[in-house]
Amino acid sequence: MRVNIEVNGVNYSEEIEPRLLLVHFIRDQIGLTGTHWGCDTSNCGTCVLWLDDLPVKSCTVLTAMADGHRVRTVEDLEQGGELDPVQKGFMQEHGLQCGFCTPGMLMTARALLDRNPNPSDLEIREAISGQICRCTGYENIVRAIRWAAANSSSNGALDVAEVAQ
Ligand code: FES
Ligand code: FES
Repeated sequence: MRVNIEVNGVNYSEEIEPRLLLVHFIRDQIGLTGTHWGCDTSNCGTCVLWLDDLPVKSCTVLTAMADGHRVRTVEDLEQGGELDPVQKGFMQEHGLQCGFCTPGMLMTARALLDRNPNPSDLEIREAISGQICRCTGYENIVRAIRWAAANSSSNGALDVAEVAQ
């Protein structure tokens, strides 16, 4: 079947197998490997990207379900050569070690801050509760998102509670 999906502002018209998961379309078919693939069972959250401005676990979404929709991946966070504040925050506060969970954390963090520019630590922890980090103990991830909140301007209202579980 053929799908038409806008990814990071670029239109892709691609032939796919109907069973293809969105994470594999993004990584293997159009080559955007910033989105990681960790479990395929909706547990780890490293595959989080945005579907029509809502963060979703892309291993739980069929590519066919994204037909006619917009996708945003971690590659789109940097704009005009400038890192997004969440990227800077993870750098400033050492919010990563191996980095495997980081793309999903960044996309969730950006969505949270767009909806809630000044989240509490509890709200940050709730937002990333669907995502696993094996390295950091989460403390520095919370600090990184707090840093980004202090250095961001809000640009929209998104409901991170709608992240696919
Ligand atoms: S790959 Fe682990 S939740 Fe999607
Ligand atoms: S930094 Fe290694 S899994 Fe999170």
